[in-house]
Amino acid sequence: MNLAGKTICLGVSGGIAAYKACALTSKLTQKGADVHVIMTKHAAEFVSPLTFQALSRNPVYTDTFDEKHPEKIAHIDLADKADLFLLAPTTANLIGKLANGIADDMLTTTLLATEAPVYIAPAMNVHMYAHPAVIRNMQQLDDWGYHFIEPEAGYLACGYVGKGRLEEPESIIRILEQRAESVRDLTGQHVLVTAGPTQETVDPVRFFTNHSSGKMGYALAEAAADRGADVTLVSGPTQLPLPRGVKRIDVKSAEDMLQAVLTAFDHQDIVIKAAAVADYRPAQTFDSKLKKKDGGLTIELERTTDILQTLGQRKQHQFLVGFAAETNDAVAYGRGKLERKRLDAICVNTVGQAGGGFQSDNNEVIYLNKEGKEKHLPSAAKKQIANQILDEIILDMEADRK
Ligand code: CTP
Repeated sequence: MNLAGKTICLGVSGGIAAYKACALTSKLTQKGADVHVIMTKHAAEFVSPLTFQALSRNPVYTDTFDEKHPEKIAHIDLADKADLFLLAPTTANLIGKLANGIADDMLTTTLLATEAPVYIAPAMNVHMYAHPAVIRNMQQLDDWGYHFIEPEAGYLACGYVGKGRLEEPESIIRILEQRAESVRDLTGQHVLVTAGPTQETVDPVRFFTNHSSGKMGYALAEAAADRGADVTLVSGPTQLPLPRGVKRIDVKSAEDMLQAVLTAFDHQDIVIKAAAVADYRPAQTFDSKLKKKDGGLTIELERTTDILQTLGQRKQHQFLVGFAAETNDAVAYGRGKLERKRLDAICVNTVGQAGGGFQSDNNEVIYLNKEGKEKHLPSAAKKQIANQILDEIILDMEADRK
Protein backbone atom coordinates (compact mmCIF):
# COMPACT_ATOMS: atom_id res chain seq x y z
CA MET A 1 0.00 0.00 0.00
CA ASN A 2 1.15 3.48 -0.81
CA LEU A 3 1.02 5.43 2.46
CA ALA A 4 0.85 8.83 0.73
CA GLY A 5 -2.47 10.53 1.39
CA LYS A 6 -3.53 7.91 3.96
CA THR A 7 -4.90 8.94 7.34
CA ILE A 8 -2.95 7.01 9.96
CA CYS A 9 -3.79 7.07 13.66
CA LEU A 10 -0.66 6.28 15.63
CA GLY A 11 -1.40 5.05 19.14
CA VAL A 12 1.54 5.42 21.52
CA SER A 13 1.42 3.67 24.89
CA GLY A 14 3.70 3.98 27.90
CA GLY A 15 6.88 2.06 27.25
CA ILE A 16 10.44 3.26 26.85
CA ALA A 17 10.17 2.47 23.12
CA ALA A 18 7.83 5.50 22.87
CA TYR A 19 10.91 7.39 21.68
CA LYS A 20 10.94 5.24 18.53
CA ALA A 21 7.39 6.41 17.79
CA CYS A 22 8.86 9.88 17.18
CA ALA A 23 10.97 8.56 14.29
CA LEU A 24 7.94 6.61 13.09
CA THR A 25 5.79 9.77 13.05
CA SER A 26 8.47 11.67 11.16
CA LYS A 27 8.98 8.93 8.56
CA LEU A 28 5.24 8.36 8.02
CA THR A 29 4.75 12.11 7.56
CA GLN A 30 7.64 12.22 5.08
CA LYS A 31 5.89 9.44 3.14
CA GLY A 32 2.91 11.79 2.74
CA ALA A 33 0.64 10.20 5.37
CA ASP A 34 -1.61 12.37 7.51
CA VAL A 35 -0.57 11.18 10.98
CA HIS A 36 -2.73 11.71 14.07
CA VAL A 37 -1.06 10.69 17.31
CA ILE A 38 -3.04 9.49 20.31
CA MET A 39 -0.99 8.95 23.47
CA THR A 40 -1.81 7.25 26.75
CA LYS A 41 -1.10 9.26 29.90
CA HIS A 42 1.89 7.02 30.64
CA ALA A 43 3.31 7.53 27.14
CA ALA A 44 3.32 11.26 27.85
CA GLU A 45 5.63 10.52 30.81
CA PHE A 46 8.24 9.28 28.34
CA VAL A 47 7.86 11.74 25.45
CA SER A 48 6.16 15.10 25.35
CA PRO A 49 3.00 15.37 23.19
CA LEU A 50 4.57 18.53 21.76
CA THR A 51 7.25 16.43 20.08
CA PHE A 52 4.60 14.45 18.20
CA GLN A 53 2.63 17.61 17.40
CA ALA A 54 5.71 19.19 15.81
CA LEU A 55 6.57 16.02 13.86
CA SER A 56 3.03 15.27 12.65
CA ARG A 57 1.86 18.88 12.35
CA ASN A 58 -1.44 17.75 13.86
CA PRO A 59 -2.91 18.10 17.35
CA VAL A 60 -1.97 15.24 19.69
CA TYR A 61 -4.67 13.56 21.76
CA THR A 62 -4.14 12.33 25.33
CA ASP A 63 -7.49 13.03 26.97
CA THR A 64 -10.96 11.93 25.81
CA PHE A 65 -12.48 15.06 27.32
CA ASP A 66 -10.07 17.54 25.77
CA GLU A 67 -12.22 18.30 22.71
CA LYS A 68 -10.13 20.44 20.36
CA HIS A 69 -12.91 21.09 17.83
CA PRO A 70 -16.36 21.76 19.33
CA GLU A 71 -18.13 20.65 16.13
CA LYS A 72 -16.68 17.12 16.37
CA ILE A 73 -16.34 14.35 18.92
CA ALA A 74 -12.65 13.62 18.61
CA HIS A 75 -12.52 9.88 19.29
CA ILE A 76 -15.39 9.14 16.87
CA ASP A 77 -14.00 11.49 14.24
CA LEU A 78 -10.54 9.90 14.40
CA ALA A 79 -12.03 6.39 14.49
CA ASP A 80 -14.06 7.08 11.34
CA LYS A 81 -11.50 8.90 9.27
CA ALA A 82 -8.54 6.57 9.90
CA ASP A 83 -7.44 4.40 6.98
CA LEU A 84 -5.44 2.42 9.47
CA PHE A 85 -4.40 2.35 13.11
CA LEU A 86 -0.85 1.64 14.11
CA LEU A 87 -0.08 0.96 17.78
CA ALA A 88 3.65 1.41 18.43
CA PRO A 89 4.84 0.73 21.00
CA THR A 90 2.03 -1.43 22.38
CA THR A 91 2.39 -2.32 26.04
CA ALA A 92 1.08 -5.49 27.70
CA ASN A 93 -1.45 -3.23 29.43
CA LEU A 94 -2.86 -1.84 26.19
CA ILE A 95 -3.06 -5.35 24.69
CA GLY A 96 -4.89 -6.52 27.82
CA LYS A 97 -7.37 -3.65 27.71
CA LEU A 98 -8.10 -4.10 24.02
CA ALA A 99 -8.58 -7.87 24.36
CA ASN A 100 -11.13 -7.24 27.11
CA GLY A 101 -13.05 -4.37 25.57
CA ILE A 102 -11.91 -1.80 28.12
CA ALA A 103 -12.23 1.79 26.94
CA ASP A 104 -11.06 4.08 29.74
CA ASP A 105 -8.95 6.64 27.89
CA MET A 106 -8.71 8.42 24.56
CA LEU A 107 -6.70 5.70 22.84
CA THR A 108 -8.75 2.67 23.92
CA THR A 109 -12.06 4.50 23.29
CA THR A 110 -11.00 5.38 19.75
CA LEU A 111 -9.79 1.82 19.15
CA LEU A 112 -13.16 0.35 20.12
CA ALA A 113 -14.92 2.83 17.86
CA THR A 114 -12.89 2.23 14.70
CA GLU A 115 -13.56 -0.22 11.91
CA ALA A 116 -10.18 0.47 10.29
CA PRO A 117 -7.54 -2.27 10.33
CA VAL A 118 -5.35 -2.11 13.43
CA TYR A 119 -1.62 -2.99 13.33
CA ILE A 120 -0.10 -3.76 16.72
CA ALA A 121 3.65 -3.52 17.29
CA PRO A 122 4.23 -4.83 20.84
CA ALA A 123 7.21 -3.83 22.99
CA MET A 124 7.76 -5.19 26.46
CA ASN A 125 10.06 -7.18 28.69
CA VAL A 126 10.83 -10.69 27.45
CA HIS A 127 9.07 -12.39 30.40
CA MET A 128 6.01 -10.17 30.06
CA TYR A 129 5.85 -11.14 26.38
CA ALA A 130 5.89 -14.83 27.36
CA HIS A 131 3.29 -14.46 30.15
CA PRO A 132 0.22 -16.65 29.56
CA ALA A 133 -2.12 -13.67 30.05
CA VAL A 134 -0.33 -11.67 27.35
CA ILE A 135 -0.25 -14.68 25.02
CA ARG A 136 -3.96 -15.28 25.57
CA ASN A 137 -4.80 -11.62 24.97
CA MET A 138 -2.73 -11.50 21.77
CA GLN A 139 -4.42 -14.70 20.60
CA GLN A 140 -7.82 -13.12 21.21
CA LEU A 141 -6.87 -10.02 19.23
CA ASP A 142 -5.45 -12.16 16.44
CA ASP A 143 -8.75 -14.10 16.30
CA TRP A 144 -10.61 -10.81 15.97
CA GLY A 145 -8.51 -9.83 12.98
CA TYR A 146 -5.99 -7.43 14.54
CA HIS A 147 -2.62 -7.58 12.78
CA PHE A 148 0.61 -8.04 14.70
CA ILE A 149 4.03 -6.69 13.81
CA GLU A 150 6.17 -9.09 15.83
CA PRO A 151 8.77 -7.58 18.15
CA GLU A 152 12.41 -8.25 17.43
CA ALA A 153 14.75 -10.25 19.61
CA GLY A 154 17.59 -8.08 20.87
CA TYR A 155 18.85 -5.93 23.69
CA LEU A 156 15.95 -4.65 25.82
CA ALA A 157 16.03 -1.43 27.83
CA CYS A 158 15.30 -3.48 30.97
CA GLY A 159 18.69 -5.17 30.56
CA TYR A 160 17.45 -8.49 29.20
CA VAL A 161 18.22 -9.83 25.77
CA GLY A 162 15.24 -11.51 24.12
CA LYS A 163 12.01 -11.03 22.23
CA GLY A 164 10.13 -7.87 23.11
CA ARG A 165 12.03 -5.08 21.39
CA LEU A 166 9.89 -2.82 19.21
CA GLU A 167 10.47 -3.42 15.51
CA GLU A 168 12.59 -0.59 14.03
CA PRO A 169 10.53 2.26 12.49
CA GLU A 170 11.90 1.55 8.97
CA SER A 171 10.79 -2.10 9.24
CA ILE A 172 7.35 -1.17 10.60
CA ILE A 173 6.83 1.14 7.64
CA ARG A 174 8.05 -1.50 5.18
CA ILE A 175 5.66 -4.05 6.71
CA LEU A 176 2.76 -1.59 6.48
CA GLU A 177 3.56 -0.87 2.85
CA GLN A 178 3.73 -4.58 2.05
CA ARG A 179 0.92 -5.92 4.19
CA ALA A 180 -1.66 -3.27 4.84
CA GLU A 181 -4.79 -3.94 2.87
CA SER A 182 -6.15 -0.75 4.27
CA VAL A 183 -7.39 0.66 1.01
CA ARG A 184 -10.94 1.51 1.91
CA ASP A 185 -12.10 0.90 -1.66
CA LEU A 186 -15.32 -0.85 -0.62
CA THR A 187 -16.60 1.95 1.61
CA GLY A 188 -20.36 2.35 1.15
CA GLN A 189 -20.72 -1.04 -0.57
CA HIS A 190 -22.97 -3.76 0.85
CA VAL A 191 -21.36 -7.17 0.56
CA LEU A 192 -23.06 -10.47 1.33
CA VAL A 193 -20.87 -13.54 1.77
CA THR A 194 -22.03 -17.08 2.45
CA ALA A 195 -19.66 -19.51 4.10
CA GLY A 196 -19.30 -22.93 5.62
CA PRO A 197 -21.20 -26.17 5.14
CA THR A 198 -24.92 -26.78 5.57
CA GLN A 199 -26.47 -29.45 7.77
CA GLU A 200 -29.43 -31.42 6.44
CA THR A 201 -31.37 -33.11 9.21
CA VAL A 202 -32.21 -36.81 9.09
CA ASP A 203 -33.56 -37.16 12.63
CA PRO A 204 -32.98 -35.37 15.97
CA VAL A 205 -29.46 -36.84 16.29
CA ARG A 206 -28.23 -37.13 12.68
CA PHE A 207 -27.58 -34.89 9.72
CA PHE A 208 -25.78 -34.86 6.37
CA THR A 209 -23.01 -32.30 5.97
CA ASN A 210 -19.66 -31.81 4.21
CA HIS A 211 -16.04 -30.95 5.04
CA SER A 212 -16.22 -27.20 4.41
CA SER A 213 -14.43 -25.28 7.18
CA GLY A 214 -15.84 -21.89 6.13
CA LYS A 215 -12.32 -20.37 6.12
CA MET A 216 -12.49 -18.99 2.56
CA GLY A 217 -15.85 -17.29 3.12
CA TYR A 218 -14.75 -15.87 6.48
CA ALA A 219 -11.53 -14.57 4.88
CA LEU A 220 -13.61 -12.85 2.19
CA ALA A 221 -15.94 -11.31 4.77
CA GLU A 222 -12.98 -10.09 6.85
CA ALA A 223 -11.14 -8.68 3.84
CA ALA A 224 -14.25 -6.87 2.58
CA ALA A 225 -14.86 -5.39 6.04
CA ASP A 226 -11.20 -4.28 6.26
CA ARG A 227 -11.74 -2.48 2.97
CA GLY A 228 -14.69 -0.54 4.35
CA ALA A 229 -17.65 -2.63 3.16
CA ASP A 230 -20.81 -3.21 5.16
CA VAL A 231 -20.58 -7.00 5.34
CA THR A 232 -23.25 -9.58 6.09
CA LEU A 233 -21.98 -13.12 6.51
CA VAL A 234 -24.55 -15.89 6.21
CA SER A 235 -22.76 -18.79 7.81
CA GLY A 236 -23.41 -22.49 8.13
CA PRO A 237 -22.08 -24.17 11.29
CA THR A 238 -18.33 -23.48 11.75
CA GLN A 239 -15.87 -23.08 14.61
CA LEU A 240 -14.50 -19.80 13.27
CA PRO A 241 -14.44 -16.51 15.19
CA LEU A 242 -16.53 -13.66 13.80
CA PRO A 243 -14.30 -11.22 11.89
CA ARG A 244 -14.32 -7.64 13.17
CA GLY A 245 -17.00 -5.36 11.77
CA VAL A 246 -18.95 -8.23 10.16
CA LYS A 247 -22.62 -8.98 10.82
CA ARG A 248 -23.25 -12.73 10.94
CA ILE A 249 -26.50 -14.60 10.37
CA ASP A 250 -26.20 -18.22 11.52
CA VAL A 251 -28.01 -20.87 9.51
CA LYS A 252 -28.01 -24.65 9.39
CA SER A 253 -29.75 -26.05 6.32
CA ALA A 254 -29.65 -25.05 2.65
CA GLU A 255 -33.26 -23.89 3.04
CA ASP A 256 -32.32 -21.63 6.02
CA MET A 257 -29.47 -20.22 3.95
CA LEU A 258 -31.77 -19.59 0.98
CA GLN A 259 -34.22 -17.65 3.17
CA ALA A 260 -31.49 -15.61 4.90
CA VAL A 261 -29.85 -14.74 1.59
CA LEU A 262 -33.12 -13.80 -0.11
CA THR A 263 -34.07 -11.52 2.80
CA ALA A 264 -30.79 -9.61 2.50
CA PHE A 265 -30.28 -9.80 -1.29
CA ASP A 266 -32.08 -6.72 -2.62
CA HIS A 267 -29.89 -4.09 -0.96
CA GLN A 268 -26.57 -5.82 -1.65
CA ASP A 269 -23.98 -4.59 -4.18
CA ILE A 270 -21.78 -7.70 -4.18
CA VAL A 271 -22.83 -11.25 -3.32
CA ILE A 272 -20.21 -13.96 -2.96
CA LYS A 273 -21.42 -17.51 -2.47
CA ALA A 274 -18.48 -19.35 -0.94
CA ALA A 275 -20.65 -21.75 1.08
CA ALA A 276 -20.61 -25.45 0.31
CA VAL A 277 -24.37 -25.87 0.13
CA ALA A 278 -25.85 -29.36 0.14
CA ASP A 279 -27.30 -30.29 -3.24
CA TYR A 280 -29.55 -32.92 -1.63
CA ARG A 281 -31.40 -33.30 1.66
CA PRO A 282 -33.39 -36.18 3.14
CA ALA A 283 -36.84 -36.26 1.53
CA GLN A 284 -38.26 -37.03 4.95
CA THR A 285 -37.12 -35.72 8.34
CA PHE A 286 -37.91 -38.01 11.28
CA ASP A 287 -39.22 -36.46 14.52
CA SER A 288 -37.78 -39.22 16.66
CA LYS A 289 -34.47 -41.06 16.42
CA LEU A 290 -34.32 -43.70 13.69
CA LYS A 291 -33.79 -47.08 15.38
CA LYS A 292 -31.54 -49.63 13.74
CA LYS A 293 -33.00 -52.73 12.15
CA ASP A 294 -31.53 -55.77 10.46
CA GLY A 295 -30.34 -55.18 6.94
CA GLY A 296 -29.40 -51.96 5.19
CA LEU A 297 -31.05 -48.58 5.30
CA THR A 298 -32.04 -46.46 2.34
CA ILE A 299 -32.64 -42.76 2.86
CA GLU A 300 -34.29 -41.03 -0.03
CA LEU A 301 -32.78 -37.65 -0.91
CA GLU A 302 -34.36 -34.76 -2.74
CA ARG A 303 -32.75 -31.74 -4.39
CA THR A 304 -32.33 -28.53 -2.45
CA THR A 305 -32.97 -25.21 -4.16
CA ASP A 306 -29.87 -23.93 -5.94
CA ILE A 307 -29.45 -20.61 -4.11
CA LEU A 308 -26.96 -19.20 -6.57
CA GLN A 309 -29.15 -19.99 -9.55
CA THR A 310 -32.14 -18.40 -7.78
CA LEU A 311 -30.07 -15.26 -7.17
CA GLY A 312 -28.88 -15.27 -10.80
CA GLN A 313 -32.50 -15.13 -11.93
CA ARG A 314 -33.38 -12.35 -9.45
CA LYS A 315 -30.29 -10.27 -9.89
CA GLN A 316 -30.66 -6.58 -10.82
CA HIS A 317 -27.66 -4.41 -10.00
CA GLN A 318 -25.85 -7.00 -7.85
CA PHE A 319 -22.44 -8.38 -8.81
CA LEU A 320 -22.85 -12.10 -8.25
CA VAL A 321 -19.90 -14.41 -7.63
CA GLY A 322 -20.03 -18.19 -7.24
CA PHE A 323 -17.49 -20.77 -6.15
CA ALA A 324 -16.98 -24.22 -7.59
CA ALA A 325 -14.74 -27.01 -6.43
CA GLU A 326 -13.88 -29.42 -9.23
CA THR A 327 -11.64 -32.45 -9.48
CA ASN A 328 -11.02 -32.05 -13.21
CA ASP A 329 -11.66 -29.66 -16.14
CA ALA A 330 -12.19 -26.86 -13.60
CA VAL A 331 -12.24 -24.01 -16.12
CA ALA A 332 -14.69 -25.69 -18.49
CA TYR A 333 -17.07 -26.71 -15.68
CA GLY A 334 -16.67 -23.28 -14.08
CA ARG A 335 -17.61 -21.52 -17.31
CA GLY A 336 -20.65 -23.77 -17.64
CA LYS A 337 -21.83 -22.81 -14.15
CA LEU A 338 -21.09 -19.11 -14.75
CA GLU A 339 -23.35 -19.09 -17.79
CA ARG A 340 -26.07 -21.42 -16.50
CA LYS A 341 -26.46 -19.53 -13.22
CA ARG A 342 -26.14 -16.03 -14.81
CA LEU A 343 -23.13 -15.12 -12.64
CA ASP A 344 -20.78 -12.18 -13.08
CA ALA A 345 -17.81 -14.24 -11.97
CA ILE A 346 -16.89 -17.60 -10.51
CA CYS A 347 -13.87 -18.76 -8.52
CA VAL A 348 -12.97 -22.31 -9.37
CA ASN A 349 -10.56 -24.42 -7.45
CA THR A 350 -9.29 -27.86 -8.15
CA VAL A 351 -9.79 -30.11 -5.18
CA GLY A 352 -7.69 -33.18 -4.56
CA GLN A 353 -4.46 -31.21 -5.13
CA ALA A 354 -1.90 -30.00 -2.61
CA GLY A 355 -1.97 -26.28 -1.73
CA GLY A 356 -5.64 -25.72 -1.09
CA GLY A 357 -9.02 -27.17 -0.26
CA PHE A 358 -11.65 -27.31 2.43
CA GLN A 359 -9.78 -27.41 5.74
CA SER A 360 -6.59 -25.75 4.51
CA ASP A 361 -5.42 -22.24 5.45
CA ASN A 362 -4.27 -21.78 1.86
CA ASN A 363 -6.14 -21.76 -1.37
CA GLU A 364 -5.47 -21.51 -5.07
CA VAL A 365 -8.25 -20.38 -7.40
CA ILE A 366 -8.95 -19.37 -10.96
CA TYR A 367 -11.18 -16.32 -11.27
CA LEU A 368 -13.39 -16.42 -14.36
CA ASN A 369 -15.67 -13.59 -15.39
CA LYS A 370 -18.49 -13.30 -17.90
CA GLU A 371 -16.26 -11.41 -20.37
CA GLY A 372 -13.92 -14.39 -20.66
CA LYS A 373 -11.23 -13.34 -18.20
CA GLU A 374 -9.31 -16.25 -16.68
CA LYS A 375 -7.07 -15.11 -13.83
CA HIS A 376 -4.96 -17.64 -11.93
CA LEU A 377 -4.43 -16.75 -8.27
CA PRO A 378 -1.61 -19.05 -7.15
CA SER A 379 -1.54 -20.76 -3.76
CA ALA A 380 -1.49 -18.26 -0.87
CA ALA A 381 -3.14 -17.69 2.50
CA LYS A 382 -6.93 -17.55 2.15
CA LYS A 383 -6.94 -13.91 3.36
CA GLN A 384 -4.55 -12.97 0.57
CA ILE A 385 -6.60 -14.87 -2.00
CA ALA A 386 -9.69 -13.11 -0.62
CA ASN A 387 -8.12 -9.71 -1.24
CA GLN A 388 -7.07 -10.72 -4.75
CA ILE A 389 -10.62 -11.89 -5.51
CA LEU A 390 -11.96 -8.55 -4.23
CA ASP A 391 -9.42 -6.73 -6.44
CA GLU A 392 -10.78 -8.61 -9.46
CA ILE A 393 -14.40 -7.94 -8.50
CA ILE A 394 -13.73 -4.21 -8.11
CA LEU A 395 -11.98 -4.09 -11.49
CA ASP A 396 -14.89 -5.90 -13.15
CA MET A 397 -17.49 -3.68 -11.50
CA GLU A 398 -15.62 -0.58 -12.69
CA ALA A 399 -15.49 -2.03 -16.23
CA ASP A 400 -19.26 -2.79 -16.07
CA ARG A 401 -19.97 0.83 -15.14
CA LYS A 402 -18.13 2.17 -18.21
N1 CTP B 1 -24.78 -23.45 -4.45
C1 CTP B 1 -25.94 -22.85 -4.04
N2 CTP B 1 -27.02 -23.61 -3.71
C2 CTP B 1 -26.97 -24.95 -3.76
C3 CTP B 1 -25.79 -25.59 -4.18
C4 CTP B 1 -24.70 -24.80 -4.51
O1 CTP B 1 -25.99 -21.63 -3.99
N3 CTP B 1 -28.02 -25.66 -3.41
C5 CTP B 1 -23.64 -22.59 -4.82
C6 CTP B 1 -22.44 -22.69 -3.93
O2 CTP B 1 -22.50 -21.75 -2.86
C7 CTP B 1 -21.31 -22.37 -4.89
C8 CTP B 1 -21.80 -22.95 -6.19
O3 CTP B 1 -23.20 -23.01 -6.09
O4 CTP B 1 -21.13 -20.98 -5.06
C9 CTP B 1 -21.31 -24.30 -6.47
O5 CTP B 1 -21.86 -24.69 -7.69
P1 CTP B 1 -22.55 -26.09 -7.92
O6 CTP B 1 -22.93 -26.16 -9.33
O7 CTP B 1 -23.68 -26.35 -7.00
O8 CTP B 1 -21.38 -27.00 -7.53
P2 CTP B 1 -21.49 -28.49 -7.20
O9 CTP B 1 -22.46 -28.70 -6.08
O10 CTP B 1 -20.11 -28.94 -7.00
O11 CTP B 1 -22.20 -28.96 -8.54
P3 CTP B 1 -21.86 -30.14 -9.54
O12 CTP B 1 -22.25 -31.34 -8.79
O13 CTP B 1 -22.74 -29.80 -10.67
O14 CTP B 1 -20.40 -30.01 -9.86
